[in-house]
Amino acid sequence: MQTLKAVIFDLDGVITDTAEYHYLAWDSLANELGLPFDRQFNEKLKGVSRMESLELILSLRDTVYTDEQKHRLAVKKNEVYKEMINKITPADLLPGIENLLMELREAGIRTALASASKNAPFILDRLEAAHYLDHVVDVNMIASGKPDPEIFLTGAARLGVEPTQCIGIEDAEAGIQAILAAGMYAVGVGAPAQMQKADLIVSSTAELSLSLLQSNFKKKS
Ligand code: BG6
Ligand code: MG
Repeated sequence: MQTLKAVIFDLDGVITDTAEYHYLAWDSLANELGLPFDRQFNEKLKGVSRMESLELILSLRDTVYTDEQKHRLAVKKNEVYKEMINKITPADLLPGIENLLMELREAGIRTALASASKNAPFILDRLEAAHYLDHVVDVNMIASGKPDPEIFLTGAARLGVEPTQCIGIEDAEAGIQAILAAGMYAVGVGAPAQMQKADLIVSSTAELSLSLLQSNFKKKS
């Protein structure tokens, strides 16, 4: 039987509701370009890097963009997004998250952040939550994004634990795939339809607690 040694968190949509800000910022860019973007399409972008997300959005039409144009569009989206995240305060931690982070710390279970976002360190700072995490994976050092397991495996390696001793928490399908491909226990936050493969699904972060995680992790291992 495995002992739970670490919990590796996604950021956007798990620790704070920045998934909504990403959506609003992409929506504003898509409107400007006259592209038929909606919330359903946005689901495909969750957990996916900025440039890959842009490519997906631009694929909604046949227009060909140069690399320089794409770069400018990505910068534009990020400027809109940065305006939004500038206003983040510790009150924007999603329900139950701070409590869970405190419980993990008290129990000596290690924690890491595995976010695809280059804005992650800034957001953690605004949330005043960086001190709860033992390691923040530097996404600039990651070659393959989610659903590749690299970011979660890097988190486990940095914490000095085996993947099978870890739980990963995600709100995106690509993220759940990455956690499972890493050989970790996958907890999905969101609607069951999008979280099909997760080991455990909660509809809200408010349901998360150390005892819930530990008892379900034990059942599987
Ligand atoms: C992920 C989000 O966490 O980060 C994606 O789920 C986002 O929606 C990606 O595209 C990259 O974020 P950023 O902040 O580097 O543009
Ligand atoms: Mg997310």
